[in-house]
Amino acid sequence: MIPETKTLAGRFPGDFVFGVATAAFQIEGATKTDGRKPSIWDAFSNMPGRVYGRHNGDIACDHYNRLEDDLDLIQSLGVAAYRFSIAWPRIVPEGTGPVNEKGLDFYDRLVDGLKARGIKAFATLYHWDLPLMLAGDGGWTARQTAYAFQRYARTVIARLGDRLDAVATFNEPWCSVWLSHLYGIHAPGERNMDAALHALHFTNLAHGLGVSAIRAERPDLPVGLVLNAHSIYPGSDDAGDRAAADRAFDFHNGVFFGPVFKGEYPERFLSALGHRMPEIEPGDMETISQPLDWWGLNYYTPMRVADDPAEGSDFPATVPAPPAGDLRTDIGWEVHAPALGDLVRKLNADYTLPDCYITENGACYNMGVENGVVDDQPRLDYIADHLGVTADLISEGYPMRGYFAWSLMDNFEWAEGYRMRFGIVHVDYERQVRTVKKSGHWYAALAGQFPKGNHREG
Ligand code: FCB
Repeated sequence: MIPETKTLAGRFPGDFVFGVATAAFQIEGATKTDGRKPSIWDAFSNMPGRVYGRHNGDIACDHYNRLEDDLDLIQSLGVAAYRFSIAWPRIVPEGTGPVNEKGLDFYDRLVDGLKARGIKAFATLYHWDLPLMLAGDGGWTARQTAYAFQRYARTVIARLGDRLDAVATFNEPWCSVWLSHLYGIHAPGERNMDAALHALHFTNLAHGLGVSAIRAERPDLPVGLVLNAHSIYPGSDDAGDRAAADRAFDFHNGVFFGPVFKGEYPERFLSALGHRMPEIEPGDMETISQPLDWWGLNYYTPMRVADDPAEGSDFPATVPAPPAGDLRTDIGWEVHAPALGDLVRKLNADYTLPDCYITENGACYNMGVENGVVDDQPRLDYIADHLGVTADLISEGYPMRGYFAWSLMDNFEWAEGYRMRFGIVHVDYERQVRTVKKSGHWYAALAGQFPKGNHREG
């Protein structure tokens, strides 16, 4: 096992960052502790029919109460960095209004604990847990929410910014916009194009306002945005399917990459749906397109699309096309590592992008503990293959600076609840016992060859 990781390690530059990632709502639990108030995910998961088994985040991995042990766990994996998110409903529990010092104290302890262990802190400000009170004013469909986010961002950075190594405004706006307001799968469970188009522009605006807030507090803190860009393939070689794939690219990627990296929404998208968007006020596009220090790519699986034969369907007018192969993870997602490479090449051809971290990559396999071990070889293979593609990209000259395995540990997998496991560490939710899986041991062996972020030669 060790020689394999040695060969792989040799393909990365000495300062490549190996890390692990989580998000607040998925691991923290303690949803009513120390002044936290509900988020839209608390409300959503408490409604029948939204989340598998009506699971919720009340306890999750009980990370809030087990912080020190979990930090020791991260340290034991030998990784250089930890990507986590900050829960807005702990910091400004009502979205606007009073700041909750106890919420800030928790992240103070988290960041200090990382520093004490020599681990870099990569914080995400918004990983989907919008304070529920803001939903009363329209949530992300209201322009006001973007300004509330700006204030929250400034509050966090004023307190923690001196000890963060990097900060991202948003995690996967595709999910908090389309999946949450158009497809109805994530909170708030809306299925409405007009609502989604409002959420789109106000999320982009909030990102830009957030960048300004962060820079006003700490001009030197590297600021980025984490996008789950889609690697899109046409279902066939037909002109119709190829055009469908181009439209899908605009809709799933272009509406985020365009505004942020070019200062404009894609033309085809605007001509189809622009009239249903909220007013784009003077200065919005400049705010949204401020240069970033880095961007994060979350990648799991390719998207395959075909032309929608139905008359009059909304842009992008596509339907899903079948996967190219049989290999799927336990959540049903096609495994196809080359799509990661194709995606990074295509995005760099279309946009001028800064340094890139793969901020999430990993696989769902649900095997449990047997005789004290978790044999999750397919997850190990998945991570190794995607790291191989990442190394190819580096050799082609793309600025890939780091990789974060999703996830540090099994956790609340949103609409799938606890039944879908992505951890490189297993969590027994009944007893809150953590068991490092085979993939976790392997990843530790790899990361261990980059002590303190420097590759050990030879
Ligand atoms: C991503 C999310 C992350 C996790 C993985 C599996 O979309 O950012 O929280 O749920 O998928």
